[in-house]
Amino acid sequence: MSATAHLAHPQPVHRHHPLRAWANAKFFESMDWYVHRRLGARKQALFADLPQLVVELGSGAGASMRYLAPGSRLVAIEPNPHAHAALRRTAARYGIDLDIRGERAESTGLADASVDAVICTLVLCTVEDQAAALAEVHRILRPGGRFVFIEHVGSGPGPLRAVQRLLRRPWRYVFDGCCLDRDTAATIAADGFADVQIEHSRLGGVFVPVWPLISGVAVA
Ligand SMILES: C[S@@+](CC[C@H](N)C(=O)[O-])C[C@H]1O[C@@H](n2cnc3c(N)ncnc32)[C@H](O)[C@@H]1O
Repeated sequence: MSATAHLAHPQPVHRHHPLRAWANAKFFESMDWYVHRRLGARKQALFADLPQLVVELGSGAGASMRYLAPGSRLVAIEPNPHAHAALRRTAARYGIDLDIRGERAESTGLADASVDAVICTLVLCTVEDQAAALAEVHRILRPGGRFVFIEHVGSGPGPLRAVQRLLRRPWRYVFDGCCLDRDTAATIAADGFADVQIEHSRLGGVFVPVWPLISGVAVA
């Protein structure tokens, strides 16, 4: 399946640039307080009973670490090297045993059926191939293991969809590959998980183009 097959409107493959990768790493580190304000309660609820070992796709600056139990081991699949120092700082702050892997979600290098929980927040908008990333999640999870996610997605019909379509190219450029109009719920539902629970909601706040949100759990 092609890298752009899951976009509402296929676009050329995004070329990552070191300057944008650096700027995005800094941006997400500086926005940690804001993301906590908007998503904190949701993350607290979804991450409440995670096992001691968790794999996270696209950890960024470590925005999810404060919701893990201190002493948890986090395998962070984060291909942006400019985010790694911030990840280490955050891990030290929250007492997380951190293992950074510079791989991509589509190919983590982890063994088949080797983990009980995979988490990701605001990452499936950016991975190059959503279906490949989800197939990889499925591959590394043990039967019964959980994939826990919070993602911004394409809007249903209405003015916000028009805004997303208008902004999608510059947004993707500035936010280093972030697509505003993906139907991520459909991709998760199509992956063949044993059970999928998805809640649709709104992020709210100042970043209007990323308001439509999905969150939930898929069980392998
Ligand atoms: C919008 S940021 C979100 C960071 C963090 N999860 C959060 O909630 O703040 C997207 C992250 O996904 C990472 N990313 C981009 N492409 C990826 C891929 N193919 N596999 C794994 N992570 C990827 C980026 O480097 C970036 O850190």
